[in-house]
Amino acid sequence: MSEFLNERQIELKARARDIAERVVRKVSAQHDRDQTYPYEVLEELRKASLTGVWIPREYGGEGGGVLDLCVVIEELSRACGGVGVAYAVNALGSFPIILAGTEEQKKRFLPDIATGKKLVAFGLSEKEAGSDAGSMKTRAVREGDHYILNGEKKWNTGGKVAAINTVFCVTNPERGSRGISALLVEDGMPGYRKGKEEDKMGIRCVPVIEIHFDNCRVPAANLLGGREGMGFKDAMMTLDRARPGVAAQALGLAQGALELAISYTRERQQFGQSVSSFQGIQWMLADMATQVEAARQLVHYAARVVDSGARGLSKASAMCKLFATDTAMKVTTDCVQLFGGYGYCKDYPIEKYMRDAKITQIYEGTNQIQRLVIAREMLREAAAGKESPKDSGAAK
Ligand code: CAA
Repeated sequence: MSEFLNERQIELKARARDIAERVVRKVSAQHDRDQTYPYEVLEELRKASLTGVWIPREYGGEGGGVLDLCVVIEELSRACGGVGVAYAVNALGSFPIILAGTEEQKKRFLPDIATGKKLVAFGLSEKEAGSDAGSMKTRAVREGDHYILNGEKKWNTGGKVAAINTVFCVTNPERGSRGISALLVEDGMPGYRKGKEEDKMGIRCVPVIEIHFDNCRVPAANLLGGREGMGFKDAMMTLDRARPGVAAQALGLAQGALELAISYTRERQQFGQSVSSFQGIQWMLADMATQVEAARQLVHYAARVVDSGARGLSKASAMCKLFATDTAMKVTTDCVQLFGGYGYCKDYPIEKYMRDAKITQIYEGTNQIQRLVIAREMLREAAAGKESPKDSGAAK
């Protein structure tokens, strides 16, 4: 549905759908099988000027917001969840530069990201620091005009193909999360090594790797924002803006799977009639369509809240991530069910939707962490006296 999107978003949606239908659908299964990066899709995205949708115009982008980004991610993910995240992770990696970079850093890094010449990743998680991101151990020590970086990062989505990695590290171990900073690490910097690539259940076309820093020398000019100690907040603010993108990926997967299921149940004949003529199947289709539309409205609402800069964006962002990704898991699983035994085999693309959907409940903050973010903000609002039952008259 395109209702309530503006003209520009409808046009972006059409541009993304064209690439999804013309290119992504043809190459998706092969990249899934071989775990290879979809460079031909990247080339099409570059030609269609979609690689810089979220980057401000003054740095070579399209000047779009999070809703514009979500519209594109949904369309790509409707054809392939892996392609959706291969695209979206560049927003995750570059939001810290947009939000907190110095003017010099924005001018140096953003134009090449906007054209798709350089891909970018986000290095936050470590083997022992996943949900508890603030407990990271990767350490940077200033030596003259460089930082010496030591440690390793895990779950670095897109890291293998990225030329730039936004890496969060401890610069002052005495200060807890206030002692965390971010360094913009570039390919070729001495001591920066890309390591093990994960063999994943889904989103197999986007490489997820470990990255290692062995006395890696990073120029002090690459300290994000030119200030130490801001890294954790910058990471949290980034995730607030990026989580609607994960939700849009989930939404695209759910929408794409539902369309395949509608088409299959119309064609599949059992007991002398189309499977879609059975009421039990129709109820499943109706429930799924309702859940998908509810997810879409929450994703669009959250993206608009983020774009408006309104208070409470963490809550809206976490809510849409939680709801849309749980919806995607349920809908893709039910769609596999509708395909019966064929759904469990690779003859049809439907099983891939279910595999691709699972990660959306896990990365960029597990859905348990999203609930924590939502509840914390609700309780903060309650403590501040906002929206209390007494004020709203509900207690009378
Ligand atoms: N915006 C701005 N500042 C924020 C913030 C936000 N949304 N959330 C927290 N902060 C600030 C707090 O105000 C606090 O600041 P002060 O020190 O000035 O008081 C500081 O950050 C610490 O906050 P908390 O005490 O709330 O931090 P916490 O340690 O309790 O952690 C958490 C909070 C929400 C659990 C956080 O750790 C979190 O989001 N965890 C999940 C991490 C995550 O999403 N990881 C995924 C990484 S990306 C990925 O999946 C791979 C990929 O490549 C796709």
